[in-house]
Amino acid sequence: MTRPPTIFSDFDFKEFDRWQRQHYLLKSARKANAWASFNTTKGAVIIDVGTGNGIWALEMANQYPNVQVLGLDRVLPNDQQNGPENLRFVQCDVTEAWPMGDNAVDFIFQRSMGDAMKQEQWGPLLKEMYRVLKPGGYIELIENDFWRHNPGPVQQAFDAFIQEQCKVTGVDFQLTDSLDTLVNETGFDQVDKKTMDIPLGEWPADQELKQFGFINKEAHKALLKNYKDFYVKQWGLSSADFDLAVQEVLEEFDEHHSFTRFHCWVARKPL
Ligand SMILES: C[S@@+](CC[C@H](N)C(=O)[O-])C[C@H]1O[C@@H](n2cnc3c(N)ncnc32)[C@H](O)[C@@H]1O
Repeated sequence: MTRPPTIFSDFDFKEFDRWQRQHYLLKSARKANAWASFNTTKGAVIIDVGTGNGIWALEMANQYPNVQVLGLDRVLPNDQQNGPENLRFVQCDVTEAWPMGDNAVDFIFQRSMGDAMKQEQWGPLLKEMYRVLKPGGYIELIENDFWRHNPGPVQQAFDAFIQEQCKVTGVDFQLTDSLDTLVNETGFDQVDKKTMDIPLGEWPADQELKQFGFINKEAHKALLKNYKDFYVKQWGLSSADFDLAVQEVLEEFDEHHSFTRFHCWVARKPL
């Protein structure tokens, strides 16, 4: 049997590692992989949209052996090919019609797709979720603000650059403000939004937050390193100036008590 296509550039491997660390960070901070209540009886179906390296889908499939877990992505993960039988990865573009019928799915999870979707793609994406969900089924969306909170001056420059890039690419820089309305307009009810502030750096006095801050800062450092070529090209910085900016940003996080704000929306398709 031919193996399905997978990702294997150095960039992809490094990004897989970063996503995996962020997965563990969010799971620890949220004390769970999912906050929505959902059907876990035999035959129930869960979808992970933009599954990435598939770690969330794998853990859910192991935790709920009666449930069929489907990870959707335009590229399939390398390293979860030998997962349990109730886990399957489906290659598709989630901005197009999903390969499943109406009212077929019990729970849809989607995390960190903010920069992968153009502003105008969110409405149709949520409609597709609504279509495939069973009445009474839940969605759970997690996105972080594109900007960092309590930024120092160099971080402010990074934020301004990202805001400009969003204009160029059509990504909604303020997505975390506009998603509430879009979720409501799609027809979901019981919309519940929670925010979680995760420190960047080891500045918190609280031991647990300090550990989260360490990991979050390392993940942010990895993000900047992985996207160095993009920043150097689009921002017009020299390689050395970029490295210096990264070093300064990492120092600023501890000085300014910076943090990342994550948002989680849980919403139901009405019965
Ligand atoms: C930032 S990663 C997030 C991965 C995972 N959700 C997580 O939280 O670890 C975004 C993922 O979305 C996928 N993706 C982006 N646009 C997509 C599209 N139009 N259709 C399907 N997958 C897409 C990418 O291939 C990537 O795996």
